[in-house]
Amino acid sequence: MIYQTGYLRMCGIFGIITNQDIPIGQIALEGIKRLEYRGYDSCGIVAQYDSQLFIKKDAGKIDEINERLKLFDFPLESKLALAHTRWATHGPPTKVNSHPHLDCSRKIAVIHNGILENFLELKEQLELEGHKFLSDTDTEVIPHLIERYIRQGIDFTQAVIKAINKCVGAYGVVICHADHPDMIIAVRKESPLVIGIEEGKTTYCASDIPAFLPYTRMCYILEDNEMAILKAGSVKFLNITNPDEPLEKELNKIEWSIDAAEKGGYKHFMLKEIYEEPLALRQTMKIPRSKLQTFAKILWSAKNIYITAAGTSFYASLAGKHIVTKFLGKYIHAIECSEFQIELGDALQEDSVIICVSQSGETIDLIEAVRWAKEKLKKKITLLCITNVVGSSLTRYSDETIVTQAGPEIGVAATKTYCTQVLTLALIALEIARYRKVLNEQEINNYYEALKSTPDIIEDYLKNKVSNIKDIVNNLDKSSNFFYLARGISIATAKEGGLKLKEVACRFIEGYSAAHAKHGPISLVREGFPIIFIAPPDETYQRLVGNVMEFKARGGKIISVVVDSDKIITNLSDRTIRIPQPANKYYNIISPITFIPALQLLSYYAALKNNLDPDQPRNLAKTVTVH
Ligand code: F6R
Repeated sequence: MIYQTGYLRMCGIFGIITNQDIPIGQIALEGIKRLEYRGYDSCGIVAQYDSQLFIKKDAGKIDEINERLKLFDFPLESKLALAHTRWATHGPPTKVNSHPHLDCSRKIAVIHNGILENFLELKEQLELEGHKFLSDTDTEVIPHLIERYIRQGIDFTQAVIKAINKCVGAYGVVICHADHPDMIIAVRKESPLVIGIEEGKTTYCASDIPAFLPYTRMCYILEDNEMAILKAGSVKFLNITNPDEPLEKELNKIEWSIDAAEKGGYKHFMLKEIYEEPLALRQTMKIPRSKLQTFAKILWSAKNIYITAAGTSFYASLAGKHIVTKFLGKYIHAIECSEFQIELGDALQEDSVIICVSQSGETIDLIEAVRWAKEKLKKKITLLCITNVVGSSLTRYSDETIVTQAGPEIGVAATKTYCTQVLTLALIALEIARYRKVLNEQEINNYYEALKSTPDIIEDYLKNKVSNIKDIVNNLDKSSNFFYLARGISIATAKEGGLKLKEVACRFIEGYSAAHAKHGPISLVREGFPIIFIAPPDETYQRLVGNVMEFKARGGKIISVVVDSDKIITNLSDRTIRIPQPANKYYNIISPITFIPALQLLSYYAALKNNLDPDQPRNLAKTVTVH
């Protein structure tokens, strides 16, 4: 491995080619605005006209750069443009490191999402051949490689194929050439790329569908090693490992609306997506039962079961594993995906089942864990995937997939997808209970009704009960750190609630086991130190009461999240957040879903209070596609 990390890169890419008189600069600009969640430290646009390429790019957020450079402003005679929003990896976010990148002749422009692992080696060779590099990026080797082959007399398309075949790593790459104004070339390996088409008029490519959804619902999903040659209103595909064979691909129709991907009147995507939780849960309740049964049967016959994910998806896995274990009667090992290979090594055995949970289905640590497991045990392992993105990389490695129905999630902080991941695992758990006959039909029905009521409970909470959240935030000392404490299944809620506050409000908090907190962390507690207790009335409640008293006795300011009818912890608390749900065992398993919106809102308002943008947390991007 010869690249250095230190910066993360996700990046959003967009391309358009048309035969219509439409403002392609404006369309490209709006395209990358809708991809800003993928990275937002610099951006750029290139357009072709007068047999030349014209570039505008700089470091900064898209709106700021647009104000200075008028990114939208290209003449109507221009029929082709590429645009990029960057998240730096190689080299800091500066103008020269922003995309697009050019070759020496300034005729070939490239935008890229991913990492070229062998770029230093390629750059050294190209420099020896006389190529001049301007940036610190890995991407810049691509236009120079293409230029090398064109200089050897090879045509543009073949030169791209040769150049791409030299590159080792992950890429979604989009390329144009000043002398070929009738085509854009897009290639994919491990970084998402989709092609949108308005038959006979305009063709688009992008890292994600919302970028072109205002113009077309018809799209193709590019797979690894596939290349698309975009012409105005048409597209041709080929496989770069076998370029002579024509490739037929399926045209998909996108059913969801662009409204789902835009803010819809809310100030931030994060807020909108919290308010979409009831809808997301209702949609997720409709996952076909046959799918849930397939997962249930595979889990029941498995020798060993692992669940793996990153960040919020990992905490959803912790909550979900609790529910599944309750009815499965077998232990499920939860391992963060970044540690999966190191922790398991030779201990990973045949006939194991791995449940992979990922909103994006593109998180690189998860993909690598899955690839490693598949390679190690060849076919003798089963991968079950729960993701929110149809056709994502993870689905291609998996034996069975369930797609959560949260719809596109644009806010960098995962919110609605967390709820739908936990709900999906809980629905699988109920199928296991039915399959194993560990519950009678009446009990299964009671649990099912509780799950079915999660959207109503959250809706009721969001409509009628949120008023004290702002008040709680306003009374929290702006500079203090604090704990989120819980026991049992709610430890996952504490960890996820804590993660949200850390990432969007930049406060150091710890989501921890209330029991374990006595073994060290309690020494931090002093007069007024805030502690949020997650306290559903489950089997851990009585012991949690003891923990609340211990922290209160040391001066802790107690804020607790409880059900409406709660009394004991309420009386011990300075403030309570009350969730409108019944207090019984059927509802206790749903508390990871119904208690989380309050904590997400608390983080949201804490971010606003600290003058932070909750949709673009510092140092974070939505999909982490590098290590
Ligand atoms: C936190 C957050 C991240 C993601 C993590 C995994 O709000 O969004 O922690 O949960 O990067 O991403 P996915 O689920 O796409 O694999």
